[in-house]
Amino acid sequence: MNLKSTKNQTKKEIEKAKSLSDLDNIFKKYLGKKGLLRTEFLKIKKLSKKEKIRIGKELNTLRVFLQKEIAKKAKEFRRKELSKQEKEEEFDITLPGKKIEFGHLHPLTLVQREIAGIFQSMGFEVVEGPEIETEWYNFDALNIPEDHPARVALSLGKTFYLKGGGLMRTHTSCAQIHYMEKNNPPLRIIVPGKVFRAEATDASHETNFYQIEGLMVGRDVSAANFKAVIQKFLEEFFKTSIKIKLRPSYFPFTEPSFELDMKCTVCAGKGCSACKYSGWIELLGAGMVHPNVLKNGGLNPKNWQGFAFGMSLDRLTMMKYKINDIRLFHSGDLRFLKQF
Ligand code: PHE
Repeated sequence: MNLKSTKNQTKKEIEKAKSLSDLDNIFKKYLGKKGLLRTEFLKIKKLSKKEKIRIGKELNTLRVFLQKEIAKKAKEFRRKELSKQEKEEEFDITLPGKKIEFGHLHPLTLVQREIAGIFQSMGFEVVEGPEIETEWYNFDALNIPEDHPARVALSLGKTFYLKGGGLMRTHTSCAQIHYMEKNNPPLRIIVPGKVFRAEATDASHETNFYQIEGLMVGRDVSAANFKAVIQKFLEEFFKTSIKIKLRPSYFPFTEPSFELDMKCTVCAGKGCSACKYSGWIELLGAGMVHPNVLKNGGLNPKNWQGFAFGMSLDRLTMMKYKINDIRLFHSGDLRFLKQF
């Protein structure tokens, strides 16, 4: 082996190397376990002492040279790699910061909170009830016996029954019973919450919507009290004077029962598309709590009486913001949601 030419050759190879792995290969080729230098070292065993010393020295010089050159080149590669990384991570501190977008409340939540606030100012407590119910709370306790047409219609067509028993509540009225069981009158509550009905969905029907139930029970709570409370609520909510009327209606859990209509605030009663040209808008169902319901809630109807009402939060929200399709609420459409 000619030291000088080997030296020159390795030098060229090192210069040509393009990466750390190229260098690694050069290292293996010359300095590795089976590398050239090692085989040369093994060869000198057979030589004379003088020759051994001479060639040994030469080989050592070559070894040191190679180690140095390879290390030098490797350093170069690492430095390049580092500066490349640094460049990638470089950022301009004079750029304006990224704006963090805040989320905001859903229109249904906004309106629910507003309604809760108005009733709270009239001394009503805001409570919740379970969404999964039994037949007892959803029907029987509310004076809706098994063969009752309202129950047949609801349970046959519109109730989601659960496999393990129970059902998804079809209205928030069940919460009346839960509350009466645990609290002594006088009672004054509203119950906002989800209700579930197997509806064919359209612009005004959803399988999942929100109701707000109201219940007030005392020694002599009357329909006149109901009218006053609801009138006050509507005026606070719509921020204008409101004309209401009660129509006789029927609910198994109230007696007498009525439907409350509000004079259309869009056309002032003249008739428009919002009120279907009747001048009035149907708003909610209500009535005086049926004695059987009081009994089922553990109260003696001889001592206590009161009113209850139930209204659709979705509908009130649609009226407030002039939304014409209930399905928008759960569409997840940002063009809709970002307006609130
Ligand atoms: N629960 C009735 C419904 O879902 C509304 C209602 C509540 C009526 C309380 C009277 C009293 O339509």
